[in-house]
Amino acid sequence: MKTLLYILALSSILFASVDSADTATCKKCHPTIAAEFQSSMHKKSSIYDDKVHKAVWDLHPAKAKGDYKCAKCHTPNATSEKAAHEGITCISCHTIKSVEKHAKANKNVYSKKDKTFYSAEAGRENEIVEYKTITSWWGNKTTIGSAYHDIDYTNENYYNGQMCMGCHSHKQNSHEFEVCTTDEKGAKDKESNCITCHMPKIDGTATTVRLSKQHAFHGFAGARVKPDMLSKYVEFGFNKSAKSFEISIENKAPHNLMTHPLRVVQLKVTLLRDTKETDLKTHTFVKIIGKNGKPAMPWLATEVVRDTMIKGNEKRVIKFDEVLKSGDKVEVVLGYFIVNPKALKKLNLQDKKEITKFTILKRKYFSVE
Ligand code: HEC
Ligand code: HEC
Ligand code: HEC
Ligand code: HEC
Ligand code: HEC
Repeated sequence: MKTLLYILALSSILFASVDSADTATCKKCHPTIAAEFQSSMHKKSSIYDDKVHKAVWDLHPAKAKGDYKCAKCHTPNATSEKAAHEGITCISCHTIKSVEKHAKANKNVYSKKDKTFYSAEAGRENEIVEYKTITSWWGNKTTIGSAYHDIDYTNENYYNGQMCMGCHSHKQNSHEFEVCTTDEKGAKDKESNCITCHMPKIDGTATTVRLSKQHAFHGFAGARVKPDMLSKYVEFGFNKSAKSFEISIENKAPHNLMTHPLRVVQLKVTLLRDTKETDLKTHTFVKIIGKNGKPAMPWLATEVVRDTMIKGNEKRVIKFDEVLKSGDKVEVVLGYFIVNPKALKKLNLQDKKEITKFTILKRKYFSVE
């Protein structure tokens, strides 16, 4: 049955127009991964599918000149609107050979080899798999690799997260000011990096051809998609003294808790006593960029106006001058806004519910003995 499905999949691919090697092609043999990818921000990274990206682009001075410089990272390889809807495609990611470092922004160097995809798999670091059929001495035929493409497992950038850094490392504007940065330290180590946290191994086969128990999650957990998959990388602590108490927030990510300058993170603490709920002071964490001490759009910014963002691997301790009693409960909520509420009007996003809402990353209760 498996073989039959495979032949069916293969023939429909070979008879379809193959040159537009897009997600639809990959989907035939990698349906689970392709379905996850559909819901990811890498798929929805174009001005057609990301309202926030479009809103910022609509105000950008380069728009009038029709010079869509964002394509380099938001829609690499796209030459038409239809292709732009594919976002950062399977092929754009799986053909990044290396990343060149530059001051303005890094640059992806793409492999020119036709249909050879880089990937990572523990134990196969030295293999380059070309498709072939082998016949054993008792006459059984087995296939090795994928009938559609070759696989190169030898590129270490796919093991340590460096392949993410062509787009994610940093970006300078024309005033040589860095508008966003993701710490390099998250892309060094094989055991913990961009890939292990944002593409964790989850149940389900990677291909329908050769069954595997697990595959790397291709929905790319982040601020907009599946943040719940990342909440375990934030830890709360609670410490009570006679006249006050402390809440600590430990960010286990190697980069700022949020990397995009539009984000606003908030800590909301509620005291639950008997039947009464009292909201305590909300604490806000931001990295705001701007000019002359005031917030400004990224292309105008020349300085960091305010930076209270929780840094990579930082443990931030917040003190509350509240006397707690035995039997009290303290509710701790850490969450964020995708777009700074103060910037919504300017971006004309104030009516978009999915963008104005407060997303909870983690919630925990502490009881006072
Ligand atoms: C005809 C079926 C078929 C099609 C179509 C196909 N693949 Fe594959 N792919 C496979 C098979 C089979 C394997 C597993 C090979 C192995 O384990 O030796 C594989 C493995 C891979 C791997 C590496 C998996 C690993 O073990 O790390 C990547 C990456 C990949 N495919 C990407 C793609 C992309 C991108 C596309 C679309 C452009 C695509 N594939 C289309 C059959 C296919
Ligand atoms: C060097 C690569 C790169 C370039 C060029 C680039 N971006 Fe981005 N952009 C990113 C990355 C990576 C993210 C993901 C969030 C983060 O870490 O900041 C992002 C996120 C965004 C977001 C937040 C979207 C969301 O989901 O809320 C906006 C808005 C945005 N970019 C606008 C632009 C505009 C407008 C341009 C062109 C003028 C542009 N970007 C050019 C890499 C780039
Ligand atoms: C943003 C970059 C990126 C995009 C987009 C992307 N991949 Fe991947 N993919 C990776 C990385 C990195 C790995 C290696 C992860 C690992 O093995 O831990 C991977 C692993 C794989 C694997 C290996 C099997 C496994 O363990 O999951 C397959 C198959 C695959 N990708 C297919 C696809 C297909 C099909 C698409 C489009 C629907 C796609 N990829 C889009 C980065 C990407
Ligand atoms: C130890 C786990 C871990 C590692 C390693 C890690 N991250 Fe994250 N990442 C997180 C957590 C936690 C968040 C915040 C929660 C969220 O966005 O839902 C996050 C958020 C993000 C976001 C969304 C930020 C925003 O402002 O929208 C991006 C983009 C991102 N990470 C990219 C990367 C890249 C690129 C690397 C590698 C250099 C990396 N991450 C390494 C855990 C990790
Ligand atoms: C070709 C450029 C490119 C590459 C390569 C790339 N990204 Fe991204 N990534 C982006 C852009 C652009 C966005 C923002 C899309 C948007 O929101 O419009 C983004 C968004 C994200 C987000 C935020 C998702 C969310 O829900 O907020 C995460 C997490 C992420 N990328 C992780 C990764 C990881 C991990 C890798 C490496 C395996 C990677 N990216 C490789 C360009 C790239």
